[in-house]
Amino acid sequence: MGLPGQELIIVLDFGGQYSHLIARRIRELKVFCEILPSSTSIEKIREKKPQGLVFSGGPSSIYLDQAPVCDPAIFELGIPVLGIGYGMQLMAGMLGGRVSPKDHGEYGETELITLDSRDVLSALGPVEQCWMGPGDRVESVPPGFVVTARTARTPVAAMAQPDKHIYALQFHPEVIHTARGQDILQDFLYNVCGCRGLWTMASFLEGAIAEIRRQVGSRKVLCALSGGVDSSVAAVMTQKAVGDQLTCVFVDHGLLRRDEAGQVQKTFREKFKINLVFVDARKRFLGKLAGVTDPEQKRKVIGEEFIRVFEDEAAKLGDIDFLVQGTLYPDVVESGTATAAVVKSHHNVGCLPQDMRFELVEPLRWLFKDEVRLLGQEMGLPEEVIWRQPFPGPGMAVRILGEITQEKVDLVQAADAIVEQEIRKAGLYRQIWQSFAVLPDMRSVGVLDGKRTYTHTVVIRAVNSVDAMTADWVRLPYEVLEAISSRIVNEIKEINRVAYDITGKPPATIEWE
Ligand code: XMP
Repeated sequence: MGLPGQELIIVLDFGGQYSHLIARRIRELKVFCEILPSSTSIEKIREKKPQGLVFSGGPSSIYLDQAPVCDPAIFELGIPVLGIGYGMQLMAGMLGGRVSPKDHGEYGETELITLDSRDVLSALGPVEQCWMGPGDRVESVPPGFVVTARTARTPVAAMAQPDKHIYALQFHPEVIHTARGQDILQDFLYNVCGCRGLWTMASFLEGAIAEIRRQVGSRKVLCALSGGVDSSVAAVMTQKAVGDQLTCVFVDHGLLRRDEAGQVQKTFREKFKINLVFVDARKRFLGKLAGVTDPEQKRKVIGEEFIRVFEDEAAKLGDIDFLVQGTLYPDVVESGTATAAVVKSHHNVGCLPQDMRFELVEPLRWLFKDEVRLLGQEMGLPEEVIWRQPFPGPGMAVRILGEITQEKVDLVQAADAIVEQEIRKAGLYRQIWQSFAVLPDMRSVGVLDGKRTYTHTVVIRAVNSVDAMTADWVRLPYEVLEAISSRIVNEIKEINRVAYDITGKPPATIEWE
């Protein structure tokens, strides 16, 4: 899918940890932005007709053998360029400046002294806070360039060749610790590249709907709906595009959050009038899970059974040519970074078998998560769907340790509902990445009305994260913990003890299994 009619900025990715962030910041400024590998050919870049290019930072030194480079002809395209960190050093090296490879020990928040406040630095005062990355430094600028800012230890903290619209920053404007960073990007986009800010969710929606219509024509489309924000937004977009040609399949494996199944039916059937096949597969999943205690085995059983159920439903519907998937932009971006080792075999509605010969419809493949939420809002999806915290495909199965039984599912769902209610009541639900209950495979001794009890323990987990790769446990206020704990032990008689998980990821993971 292309995005006709959009202004475009290309971020050339030199492996920096902030490449996605640069793209997000640019989109926040209402200009569409794509991330492409630094090795992208000059022809491809020219073909895309970008208004501007940003060279990302990166962990390398330009003096290393494997250091990523770009085609030098890039500087002759007449397209404005903004180099950041490694992007600046590379530019300096390629254009005849001198770059020093030594460690300058200047890292983190630093005072930036502006020497020439034209163009991209026009919003800056004489001294501003900026965030410096580690690595090489430019010692002398290439011919035709001027030094536009410095710091106490970095004589060339920014440089420019205004005639050619080439600018470079040793510091990172995309991180929040650079006080006027967003102003710098805004000046680059609007004053240097001449962008007008055409990227809005309304404009995207219009183009994306037209694109789905073009792709699908009058044929039939299937969507595996999980109730999460991505598949929900993708389904509603597709329905707006092709109406009744879309059928959604929602599989209730019995391990959902309480009321989730009902809510999905209400939203999609009643509000959006989507053809929804609701499969009550609770018995089927519980049957398959009987006696299974190993976490990976549980995931495997659920993943496989999900596929079987889905295949059965697709076969019943017949003649389906397309499958909607809620793939997001970060999954699409080609990047030189190595993939992480698999810690858990994830199951989600996207993992359908290869041999199901559907063509994919991926209406969210250009979007970041926060943009998907904005789009959901634009289309009138309920807040509960848009802001629902992430939930694993195997659901409560990975939050019930040991064998899964209906009794345990009921217990963990009840405790989880209390956690959610109290977190919402405290106004914390949206700020927290995930908050939920876990049922370990253990009982402990308690006392109730003077009598001994020997019942279940529940663990509360609340974490904050940016991308789920790492997470920190949330310092929940004691009053909230108290409310959760007393409600759980008062309202669920089979639970006599509540614990709070105070472990980050790593070394723990977010889910317990
Ligand atoms: P962990 O437990 O690995 O989880 O720290 C990271 C994030 O992924 C979610 N998660 C899953 N999501 N299918 C999913 O769609 C899965 O199998 C799965 N397992 C974990 C988890 O909730 C957290 O947000």
